[in-house]
Amino acid sequence: MSVERTTAAGGMETSYGFKRVGEGEKQSLVNDVFHKVANRYDLMNDLMSGGLHRLWKDAMVTWLNPPKRAGWKVLDVAGGTGDIAFRIVDASHGNAHATVLDINGSMLAVGRDRAEKKGLSGNIDFVEANAEELPFTDATFDAYTIAFGIRNVPHIHLALSEAFRVLKPGGRFLCLEFSEVEMPLLDKVYEAWSFNAIPRIGKMVTGDGEPYSYLVESIAKFPNQANFASMITHAGFDRVSFRNYSGGIAALHSGWKL
Ligand SMILES: C[S@@+](CC[C@H](N)C(=O)[O-])C[C@H]1O[C@@H](n2cnc3c(N)ncnc32)[C@H](O)[C@@H]1O
Repeated sequence: MSVERTTAAGGMETSYGFKRVGEGEKQSLVNDVFHKVANRYDLMNDLMSGGLHRLWKDAMVTWLNPPKRAGWKVLDVAGGTGDIAFRIVDASHGNAHATVLDINGSMLAVGRDRAEKKGLSGNIDFVEANAEELPFTDATFDAYTIAFGIRNVPHIHLALSEAFRVLKPGGRFLCLEFSEVEMPLLDKVYEAWSFNAIPRIGKMVTGDGEPYSYLVESIAKFPNQANFASMITHAGFDRVSFRNYSGGIAALHSGWKL
């Protein structure tokens, strides 16, 4: 299957997977997906990625290297069920404060329960809001993270400029996202797995394969590593770079507000 990825010029705001939708429609379709999958989201992540998402998330937090001092604040956008925030608080030896922001109350409800069970409620708060319009004043956070979230946001340039705005000078931006597989053969295996197996596993586990077809299609449409790096630079970030994981199945982009 040959799919045209969206470029830095945009187009993600009207693509719901491979379907074209009206500009105002994408967000509510995406919200339906995550309301449907929230309760099985964590299990599905393990099944879909064979547990790899855990290694990629660990690598993200290792690159972030949160300081082991109190007062350091991170905003985890599209933070869903809390995976990134929990790892950051652990890596800071319980010193960091994390705000998990997500547009979807069902995903946040799962996150809140998990935080309570882990005894991390004191370090983490949960905010229901849109990545395109963050309810925080300028220069509030030391770091901004977003994992497997940005491709779901209709206006990526707005999310990036909001990230830049709420970071303190010297603040760090890190984005983990599915990307373009850069290894011959692996790309074919990955394509077969994503388009055939993932929607089927989704149907078996959640009773509905459609949300997973959207997730797979949205991955195939997302700008590749270089184009996404240009978008981050365009939002004002400096020293933008990226690392590939698992041959480019996932990529971690980094930038600094200098
Ligand atoms: C694939 S999940 C990622 C969750 C978590 N970061 C992780 O890595 O497991 C994508 C999340 O993006 C959220 N999302 C989608 N559009 C959003 C928006 N405009 N603003 C904030 N969150 C959004 C969804 O509700 C969902 O929880």
